[in-house]
Amino acid sequence: MTTSLELPADPVAAGETGVAAPVAIEVSHLTKVFGAPARRGLGRGRSDTGGGKPPAVADVSFTVAKGEFFVIMGLSGSGKSTLLRMLNKLVEPTSGTLTIDGRDVSRLRDGELRELRNKKINMVFQHFALFPHRTVRDNAAYALRLRGVNQNEAAQRADEALKTVGLEGWGDSLPGELSGGMRQRVGLARALASGADILLMDEPFSALDPLIRRDMQDLLLQLQRDHQRTVVFVTHDLNEAMRLGDRIMVMRNGKVVQLGTGAEILSMPADDYVADFVSDVDRSRVLTAGTIMRQPLVTARLDERPEQVLDRIGAAEGLGAYVLDEDGRILGVLSNDRLADAVHQRSTSLADHLTDQYASVPDSAPLVDLCSLVGRHSVPLAVTDDAGRLVGVVPRAALLAAIANTEEAPRA
Ligand SMILES: Nc1ncnc2c1ncn2[C@@H]1O[C@H](COP(=O)(O)OP(=O)(O)O)[C@@H](O)[C@H]1O
Ligand SMILES: [Mg+2]
Repeated sequence: MTTSLELPADPVAAGETGVAAPVAIEVSHLTKVFGAPARRGLGRGRSDTGGGKPPAVADVSFTVAKGEFFVIMGLSGSGKSTLLRMLNKLVEPTSGTLTIDGRDVSRLRDGELRELRNKKINMVFQHFALFPHRTVRDNAAYALRLRGVNQNEAAQRADEALKTVGLEGWGDSLPGELSGGMRQRVGLARALASGADILLMDEPFSALDPLIRRDMQDLLLQLQRDHQRTVVFVTHDLNEAMRLGDRIMVMRNGKVVQLGTGAEILSMPADDYVADFVSDVDRSRVLTAGTIMRQPLVTARLDERPEQVLDRIGAAEGLGAYVLDEDGRILGVLSNDRLADAVHQRSTSLADHLTDQYASVPDSAPLVDLCSLVGRHSVPLAVTDDAGRLVGVVPRAALLAAIANTEEAPRA
């Protein structure tokens, strides 16, 4: 009976965020067996009793912080839509609990539930329905009208939302006059106009062609940040997941196989299923300098003697070293050639031999930005933090290995 529960006891690796942000959604051991009577067999491990049918969603637990962009990813049939619909009570859970803004949703009365659906949460589907005979404005105002907002106010707020999504002036048009991408923008405008804090989105961009899709992703990210919305976004496309998600939850056969940031999933896929997904990803745009950097082999201080530094570089088989101040900021670079000159001239001051022959990037720089910078100097590319301190280096070989995904990638 535990066949559906072969994961460790807590599949979402508690505390993986360490972030103390307020919680928007808390899902605990949520299970759905289609055809099974709801709210029976609350105990874990009894979730696969629905006439032998495997659960569509099996014992899933996770927490979404307020303002987080949370992505649910997995192949078709992995239970993403079912899970998303349970968040909105479009699908009744077989067991488990769901809390939204600290309130147990199963305890809400009908009126409260309606309010939750109309005000707090808005759902955008892949092929979401626009009313063909109503104007774009009326379509965008739909959620507000449902809530009883009067026509004038609803129209005004709809117009604002249309402007935000780049559809200013289209309010009087009919949906049939819009392109597919524009119609999907109306869906976003409707979600925005509704004022809902939580947006549930089920593959909303899957039907769009790639360029429009990218625009919509950018627009959504911007809206989510500017308007502080919490987004739960379902997709089967890992590139989309990586672009959008603060965190990504990977599902398979109704279960959570991994939950983490894009870089975490990419650098440490939990199993072959995830690794398979990850193999398609453009690693150079997802991985950052910070995820692949190494410890610098040699660094030096200005008060050292040239031969000391030259010895250390020689021992490490390097071609040069970064010279750092006492806070770890880069003062310059000493190449072996310069150091050899210094020794030759019996010079005691390193400062006279410093050069600026190096390149540096912030730890958040995507690998694609590093390609033109590595291998050009005697020292490897420097990675610096916000304060300009040297936190690591990226040798050319490390960059190539990371992009090619050979097992040279460091774990730390
Ligand atoms: N209304 C339903 N009745 C019975 N089975 C369903 C229903 N909806 C989904 N399922 C089944 O649940 C599983 C998960 O489906 P779904 O949540 O739609 O996955 P996804 O969105 O990841 O493609 C599938 O096996 C699907 O056939
Ligand atoms: Mg689906």
